[in-house]
Amino acid sequence: MNKISVFEAQKLFQKTFGHPPVRLVRAPGRLELLGNHTDYNEGLVLALAVDKYLHIASSPRSDGRIEIVTSAFPGREKFPFDRLKKNPAAPWADYVKGVLDQLRRRGVHFGGFNAAIHSSVPVGAGLSSSAALLVATALTIRQLHPFRLLGGRRTTPPERDAKGNLPPFTAAERLELAKLCLAAETQFVGLQCGLLDQISSLFGKAYHAMEIDCREHTVRHAPFVGEFAIVVCQSGVPHELAAGEYNQRRALCDSATKKLQAKALRSVEPRYLSANKSSLTEREHQCAYHVVGEIQRVIFGERALRAGDFAQFGQFMFQSHESSRDFFKNSCPELDLLVELARAQPGCLGARLTGGGFGGATINLVERLRLEEFSCAMTAGYERLTGRKMTPLRCEIVDGAE
Ligand code: GLA
Repeated sequence: MNKISVFEAQKLFQKTFGHPPVRLVRAPGRLELLGNHTDYNEGLVLALAVDKYLHIASSPRSDGRIEIVTSAFPGREKFPFDRLKKNPAAPWADYVKGVLDQLRRRGVHFGGFNAAIHSSVPVGAGLSSSAALLVATALTIRQLHPFRLLGGRRTTPPERDAKGNLPPFTAAERLELAKLCLAAETQFVGLQCGLLDQISSLFGKAYHAMEIDCREHTVRHAPFVGEFAIVVCQSGVPHELAAGEYNQRRALCDSATKKLQAKALRSVEPRYLSANKSSLTEREHQCAYHVVGEIQRVIFGERALRAGDFAQFGQFMFQSHESSRDFFKNSCPELDLLVELARAQPGCLGARLTGGGFGGATINLVERLRLEEFSCAMTAGYERLTGRKMTPLRCEIVDGAE
């Protein structure tokens, strides 16, 4: 476990509730490597789980009340286990409540508990701190009140071994949890996102990229190691996904899909799209053009990765950014600047915005030997041109939540 973060969660728990926690879980953040806004179009994505974790320390209560605190925001959120209502003063707690709500709908029984959350996944930076919170909440309940889901319903619960440990998840159970967390986000929080973030936090594998097929709901792991490092550059522009832009893009994709009489944009061939351009509005066409091209890029990207051709893969990353910027229009000047600064660095193989966009961060593939040089140049260049401080964040690829 990431020692500092676990320690912080335990410390916060002890300080808040006056006794040590009995359970500890963690879920990693994720990076979208290639495949921007393809997930809810039944497309393909390449993703990584990374070594920035969200930890939850917890213990059960007998009075049916739930109390949660987080080191990220002040205050304590308290509510009875059977009254799951949004609190505009603590929107972060909606993610926890959304998961509890979905568990209840699937017949999972749970009672009251205390929980303390600490995260080293930067909030609003494009590493999906929200999915880490959703997943860690589901794991917390599983630890406190073991359950197993199959086909969207509760089934025979897993048993603890002599040491009190639960058995590892099967792939089918991980997928159930990912879908549950997605439902929490779309139905309770209100962001119409796809499965990418939840799958990535649950299916990550150290030193591997995940090839996620969002139509078949399958994940393949491809080795992702070489003489390069993965670096995140945070623009410092917070992305308020729920605020509307994200859902609007999704609506444009959905209306384009309908007009093209397709099951999803995944089913649309580039030539079919161009032949039917006149049936779409300009924005629908631009969004569809991005998604259809991006799915192709993921296919080519996977081939490049399997051939060990990271230089080519980096080119796909740059192309992906250009497509997001020019057609999907979910970039912003700061993200564009970060990509251009990175492109000018001799050690940079590829760079692009990662995640929802409209702020957040870029992901960069950087030659290991030139990492220091890259980081210094990025920090200096970004501060000179925007006045913002930025320290590139190196990320290692890790296993998913357990
Ligand atoms: C956010 C969403 C994901 C995905 C990405 C864009 O991270 O939560 O479902 O759509 O944006 O690829």
